Amino acid sequence: MKLIILVFLIVTNPVVVTSEDDYHYMAYVIQWLPTVCGYPGVNCKANIMKEPLRFTLHGLWPGNSTGGSLECNPPPHGTQDKVKEVWKNSKTLEKELHKYWPSLLSGWTDEEFWMHEWKAHGYCTKQTLPAADYFRAAVRNGVFLMEVIKALQGAKMVSDVATSDMKDIRAVLHSMGLSPNPYISCIPKDETHVYLKEIHFCLDKTLRRFIPCPTSQDTRGCGGSNKQQNVMIPSRVIL
Ligand SMILES: *[C@@H]1O[C@H](CO)[C@@H](O)[C@H](O)[C@H]1NC(C)=O
Repeated sequence: MKLIILVFLIVTNPVVVTSEDDYHYMAYVIQWLPTVCGYPGVNCKANIMKEPLRFTLHGLWPGNSTGGSLECNPPPHGTQDKVKEVWKNSKTLEKELHKYWPSLLSGWTDEEFWMHEWKAHGYCTKQTLPAADYFRAAVRNGVFLMEVIKALQGAKMVSDVATSDMKDIRAVLHSMGLSPNPYISCIPKDETHVYLKEIHFCLDKTLRRFIPCPTSQDTRGCGGSNKQQNVMIPSRVIL
């Protein structure tokens, strides 16, 4: 009898998964402000530059089983107004979004940045995740931004002169017990050195639990065996 009920449930309750929603994890992508704002041609806001030693949220990006980012189709007209209601209806949420997820770039309001990220990344997961969950997860994990800096500073890795081995950076992040295998992205400093730019921690589909990121071959700009040992986490915006 139990088996019949089970079969009945499976048959009458199909889970519709479109290819768009076929994501395996959600990356919680944080960016190191001194690297991002020091990038040639990048113009960061004056008030952002006053408090440069921090990670801010870049976005939440769904990824597939091999660590690749999904590309969303453009959302239909009018969707954006509904999405904006998520923060317009909650002053607390809006305040925290401004705190953890500011637009670093001049010429972009924070709201424009959040909407851009949601359209480019969040919209892909619409079948599974209401927009409200996307933005709530952004702030729920915001406390970790500070903890990551503290851990890296504690290991004396935030410096204008010291270079770190990627293995050691990974070990520090691992010891925090968040997401055991985060992705790290870099931008080049010169032929032999790179600056750490972003860390992608992986969340499960509920966005409530950190999980190991899928195995990925992508070096995200940190590549080359010599560069892997010459990673810098600058302690000021180098222009
Ligand atoms: C994952 O996405 C990347 C592109 O971002 C793609 O090249 C790769 O084939 C995808 N992997 C799978 C298993 O679909």
